[in-house]
Amino acid sequence: GHTAAIIDGKSIARDIRFRIASEIRRAKAAIGKSPGLAVVLVGKRRDSEAYINIKLRACDEVGIATLIAELPENCAETELLDVVSGFNEDPSVHGIIVQLPLPQHLDEEKIMTVVSPEKDVDGFHPLNMGNLAMRGREPLFIPCASKGCIELLLRFGVEIIGKKSVVIGRSKIVGLPTSFLLQRHHATVSTVHAFTKNPEQITSQADIVVTDVGIPNIVRGNWLKPGAVVIDMGTNLVKDPNSRRGFRVTGDVCYEEAIKVASAITPVPGGVGPVTISMLLSNTLDSAKRAFG
Ligand code: GUN
Repeated sequence: GHTAAIIDGKSIARDIRFRIASEIRRAKAAIGKSPGLAVVLVGKRRDSEAYINIKLRACDEVGIATLIAELPENCAETELLDVVSGFNEDPSVHGIIVQLPLPQHLDEEKIMTVVSPEKDVDGFHPLNMGNLAMRGREPLFIPCASKGCIELLLRFGVEIIGKKSVVIGRSKIVGLPTSFLLQRHHATVSTVHAFTKNPEQITSQADIVVTDVGIPNIVRGNWLKPGAVVIDMGTNLVKDPNSRRGFRVTGDVCYEEAIKVASAITPVPGGVGPVTISMLLSNTLDSAKRAFG
């Protein structure tokens, strides 16, 4: 029977990285300068270390210089703030990311406010987030995963204007900014979250379904309208004794069911993830271009 088209995030991400790399090469040749990204990691979370390694490797590949600051799990808030302030002042640094989540004793909201809005390549500073939410204003940076979601839709030729779309989840780093960005692209946006009654009633009306939940297989086939486009932003680690590392990555969507209903779907892994990384490179390059003038 019918199966959905698979939106190949890996090849789209590669294409974007390739164009960024050539732009950086040309800038280096012309003015002798390269973009720089600073990464801050607090503690030793295995998942955060893995994400940071992916980001650093991607920077390396396209010619973005990297600085990394590793702080101990029990570091004082002032230590972290000093490190961020140092990067704010450093002219070789064009982007700063503080890998989340932070240990409990550190105030994430406060730390996001200390990153200079001009170097906030994650787009989490309230100034950038607020400008994203307000029509007629331009944020300096748009959060990478949200940008990646739209990039995939546009490159796959999905019409967004006037389309019913649902974002499942409202996290400050993925769901909420994705709702804002879909609105900026003139979609009709509904939000579904933990307190929503009968979520499947809402999701099954949508032409575009975006998930940011963190629960494997929560979105079933019967949550989807036939022909819907599904962007699965979930990155869930599940135990898998057959896998080399003892776990594998899976999304929020029950893939086997969804491919029988949707017209197109992003796989996990290999969907939004790699494009999100390319958007980080893109934000860092944009920031460097503003700084280079
Ligand atoms: N943790 C999970 N996703 C992200 C992200 O996009 N940026 C940062 N800094 N931390 C994260």
